[in-house]
Amino acid sequence: MFGAALRARPGRRNSIQLISKCGIAPASVLSPQHRVLHLDGSREHIVASAERSLRALCTDHLDVFLLHRPDVLMQCEEVAEAFTQLSEQGKVRSFGVSNFSSSQFAVLQAALPFPLVTNQIELSVLKTDALGNGVLDDIRLRGIVAMAWSPLGGGRLFTDPANEQLINVMASVAHRYGATITAVAIAWILRLPAKITPVLGTIDPERLTQAARGCFLDLDRQDWYEIFAAAGNSFA
Ligand SMILES: NC(=O)c1ccc[n+]([C@@H]2O[C@H](COP(=O)([O-])OP(=O)(O)OC[C@H]3O[C@@H](n4cnc5c(N)ncnc54)[C@H](OP(=O)(O)O)[C@@H]3O)[C@@H](O)[C@H]2O)c1
Repeated sequence: MFGAALRARPGRRNSIQLISKCGIAPASVLSPQHRVLHLDGSREHIVASAERSLRALCTDHLDVFLLHRPDVLMQCEEVAEAFTQLSEQGKVRSFGVSNFSSSQFAVLQAALPFPLVTNQIELSVLKTDALGNGVLDDIRLRGIVAMAWSPLGGGRLFTDPANEQLINVMASVAHRYGATITAVAIAWILRLPAKITPVLGTIDPERLTQAARGCFLDLDRQDWYEIFAAAGNSFA
């Protein structure tokens, strides 16, 4: 659907960045060649996935292409060959990874002739592992941008009754800023010192607008920590 929309308005291509990913090989009716769900960091899989994304999105290049999860059987030299081929053919501008630990990132980076530009990680008020496991520190050291998937906890922030107390705290913070809880959830991520791009899942224009407002909300330090604590975190 996105590809069809882009084909109808080719002039829009240059005003957006297209990011796709590869590495998960599902066992489904669409992939009868797979007996089991598995991870695939092979050269063939990476190249074929990028080319499939190009066809589906009706474009001649991807701005960023990610390895979705670290495949423990992956040979980094093969990944380097695949990335180099796609880059030299002009099919992909830059590359990144997703859900990589900082050491997994370093091992792959060491085999590549160019810098990875991002690590897409799960990060939200409900998922704060990256604050303490070194991944965000690594992002800062490398001067690159993290992408935060499920920045609203995949919707659980709003729908899971277990988050009632957190939602109440976020609502009162939001009230002080004349903002919505969605905006506060995004501002909470952006207040972190690493450069982070939240990856929203909604396509509801109103929800997207609310989330975008979070970019202009400078959360006070105490408000940030109040939300951190209400989500069950502690720094002690
Ligand atoms: N790298 C990875 O391993 C990985 C894993 C998962 C996802 N991702 C990427 O991250 C993207 C975003 O993930 P996500 O979809 O989990 O992100 P999200 O933005 O945290 O969650 C989106 C969900 O929240 C719901 N939602 C938003 N506002 C709401 C509200 N006020 N009340 C109730 N529900 C609300 C949306 O419903 P509506 O659609 O109805 O608005 C949607 O179902 C995905 O599209 C994917 O590209 C990456």
